[in-house]
Amino acid sequence: MAALTIAATVNAQTVHQMEVNTKKLGAAVQPTMYGIFFEDINFAADGGLYGELIKNRSFEFTPDHLMGWDAFGKVEIKNDGPFDKNPHYVHLTSAGHRDMWTGLQNEGYFGIGLEKDAEYKFSVWARVPDGNPQNLWIQFVDQHTMGEHQEFSTADLRIDSKDWKKYTCTIKSSRTIDKANVRILMVDDEKHRSGTGSVDLEHISLFPVDVFNGDENGMRKDLAQALADLHPGVFRFPGGCIVEGTTLETRYQWKNSVGPVENRPTNKNRWENTFTYRYYADYFQSYGLGFYEYFRLSEEIGAEPLPVLSVGLSCEFQNGSQRSDAHVPVDQLQPYIDDVLDLIEFANGDPAKNVWAKLRADMGHPAPFNLKFVAIGNEQWDAIYPENLKPFVEQVRAKYPDIKIIGTSGPDSEGKQFDYLWPEMKKLGADLVDEHFYRPETWFLSQGNRYDNYDRKGPHVFAGEYACHGRGKKWNHFNAALLEAAFMTGMERNADIVDMATYAPLFAHVDGWQWRPDMIWYDNLRSFRSCSYYVQQMFSRNKGSNVLSLTMNGKPVAGNSDQDGLFASAVFEKEDNSIIVKIVNTGDQAQAVNLNFDGLNSVSSAEVTTFNSPELTAENTLDEPEKITPKTEKVEIKGVGKKSTALAYSIPARTFAMLKIKK
Ligand code: AHR
Repeated sequence: MAALTIAATVNAQTVHQMEVNTKKLGAAVQPTMYGIFFEDINFAADGGLYGELIKNRSFEFTPDHLMGWDAFGKVEIKNDGPFDKNPHYVHLTSAGHRDMWTGLQNEGYFGIGLEKDAEYKFSVWARVPDGNPQNLWIQFVDQHTMGEHQEFSTADLRIDSKDWKKYTCTIKSSRTIDKANVRILMVDDEKHRSGTGSVDLEHISLFPVDVFNGDENGMRKDLAQALADLHPGVFRFPGGCIVEGTTLETRYQWKNSVGPVENRPTNKNRWENTFTYRYYADYFQSYGLGFYEYFRLSEEIGAEPLPVLSVGLSCEFQNGSQRSDAHVPVDQLQPYIDDVLDLIEFANGDPAKNVWAKLRADMGHPAPFNLKFVAIGNEQWDAIYPENLKPFVEQVRAKYPDIKIIGTSGPDSEGKQFDYLWPEMKKLGADLVDEHFYRPETWFLSQGNRYDNYDRKGPHVFAGEYACHGRGKKWNHFNAALLEAAFMTGMERNADIVDMATYAPLFAHVDGWQWRPDMIWYDNLRSFRSCSYYVQQMFSRNKGSNVLSLTMNGKPVAGNSDQDGLFASAVFEKEDNSIIVKIVNTGDQAQAVNLNFDGLNSVSSAEVTTFNSPELTAENTLDEPEKITPKTEKVEIKGVGKKSTALAYSIPARTFAMLKIKK
């Protein structure tokens, strides 16, 4: 155990005197503090968090309904299937020769990741139109094997009904492989020859048996676990720009994302072609991860659900902010408003009284999800936004006065639209305003005092999307995360006005990203948590219950010009009677700090967690997932007095340090 009169070699001349007042509890820290924002960008849903391993399982991708599939022998696409919103399916018939096999092969999302000895649940809706039973041979294959057989694990299914039915089997993988394919062959009884009959197949699906929490239609375990490990206070979903859509037609419509997965209509993902340098023609949304699953996941990870809904404006980046047919006129907004009202019923309503609440119960959750917040609109701007928002606010308030409404201040952290929208949100009586800032290092360094002078009588702050875009390429290096930590001390200090904050975006597939930095990265088998993840985790798991005043020369420590690059905040945690001080040294010299805890006269235990890296631009990777992680050590505190405790601490250069002292 180290002794914490810690005063290692310090280059700086000044010993910074910091005063922490432990006698008076400041503002309550909202339980929603430090949350997560999920958007289906970077293959975050299909191909990411959602457990499904088959791409285009319903044959609804366009223009090529066989995208993701290789078809051989005689395979036809038909469109009078059993699911009216996903009508396409495949009709397989004998190719006319016993050695000409008919079948299909799916490539998954950048391949299919399989673990040795793990079990996978294969399912398919099928029928034999002529009534003659037909055998299917399901195979896991390695298309690039040097060995004799491409298939390495297989299962058999016998389709025996003229009517559509769901057939399932479990396949245990004999190999660990990150880019397998799944092959389905029509075969005779001995599997020596091609089948001679015909069979129709629809909604072909493969899930790991071991999904997060064992849920039906569940989530990839390592990714969902990474969310749970954050202890997030709030979960914002499903976007982002996908809420708005590039067109109104392709906006996210939550009603399409609930009910049986087979009948959730596929939608094009707006991130498919937003950036020509990262173009993915096969990026669609299956809605397999839909609003029911978002609510269920929120509950499982202990976060307040925060859905974002369309305000009847398609993406203003693409469509401008003048009235046009890209935006819904105010007098035609009722279906959009109904989407919000019905969602509140879906989440909270009584199944005996409301059809949407009944659907929730039918899907397996009779108890309410206890929704408290709705955000209406994502990054909207100009007069068109408050004009559209007004009737939403009026109707939600009238019917559900307890629901908190979140408006937006547009896509910028300051400037014309921001200055226009905040007062507009106040006029409309929004409870919170969603601010977004993807900004460079200099911006983050300059924003330590951002919230100190916000109007305390207006809406509260929801920092709904933010990330430091580090120098050079925008990636998840250590320094960007460090500056996010510095900025977050300002949020923590202003807990009376900042109620929520969600870093963005959350997930990215290494082979399929469009946007970075992102909090968690993965391939088909592995994942890693970025430096930003660890910063978020240090805050969210140590958010405390109340702010404590922490000052240096009577002023907040916010990286001001006379503060040598230091940022700091302190909180008290009622649950374990602890004081938590967060200090970020953004400079390249260690800084001597003397922490004086006024009112602290007994210490039962203490620990210091430090997060730093020898290289500022170092990052965690799939190969070195834990290269940069916070390290915690117990320390002994000397200098405990009758009325106060003094603590000398040298915070190393470029370090986020957190002291946790139990009274
Ligand atoms: O997070 C990526 C995008 O950034 C979001 O969709 C949008 O809200 C913001 O512009």
